[in-house]
Amino acid sequence: MTAVSTVVLTGAGISRESGLETFRDLGGVWSQVRLEEVATPAAFARDPARVQAFYNARRRQLRDPAIQPNAAHRALARLEQALGDSLLLVTQNVDDLHERGGSRDVVHMHGELFKARCTACTAVVPWHDDLDAGSRCPQCARPGRLRPHVVWFGEIPHALERIFEALSGCTRFVSIGTSGSVYPAAGFVAAASEAGAATLELNLEPSAGSRRFGEVRHGPATALVPAWVDRLLQGGG
Ligand code: APR
Repeated sequence: MTAVSTVVLTGAGISRESGLETFRDLGGVWSQVRLEEVATPAAFARDPARVQAFYNARRRQLRDPAIQPNAAHRALARLEQALGDSLLLVTQNVDDLHERGGSRDVVHMHGELFKARCTACTAVVPWHDDLDAGSRCPQCARPGRLRPHVVWFGEIPHALERIFEALSGCTRFVSIGTSGSVYPAAGFVAAASEAGAATLELNLEPSAGSRRFGEVRHGPATALVPAWVDRLLQGGG
């Protein structure tokens, strides 16, 4: 297994120019609905139909042909082609725009909108349609036991061991389009710095964690990310 030299973390900001809202910007998702009502295990236990409706709406939006990967997603796919296994791409996003932009190995630490998980048999299955009480698990055939395969607040994100293993040995950590508000992702820059890695933030504006980065560049992801990847692939920093 090749050692990971470069860890890239993305957040909702990288998908903003594809037409998906972010969470904490003006008009963002959490200004439209309280996360306590739709993105916690307690919310799902209290009112599963309301939680399913929230994710059904986001799944429908993601199926809209108008929502396409952008130049930032495509640039990271070029980076993966050049770096191979020495790149680890971690996303907080549950959309599939990195994959549709050409990335093949994407670590979705907060899960994926186009997957469902059975609370009876724990199967994780592709799921692009609405989920409701009548939805049957393709594995165990039980109805009404499928939930979004999305990590809710209070649940443990996926692949943390693999991520922190990569951070402990990387020489470069780049954070793209995230407000640095939610742990453990917001703590990745500290782990990379401890490993002696160069740290770079590419974001529309200063994030909550900007001061923890060795370098920050502000602007839209579709401008910053291709420029950074092109310079890196030409031997720059
Ligand atoms: N280009 C680059 N950055 C952008 C752009 C853009 N076009 N538009 C917005 N941003 C930046 C904003 O400045 C902000 O710092 O993207 C960031 C988005 O922050 P959030 O809305 O907090 O999204 P994110 O950081 O991904 O949230 C983390 O919180 O709600 C949970 O699970 C959810 O994965 C999400 C996590």
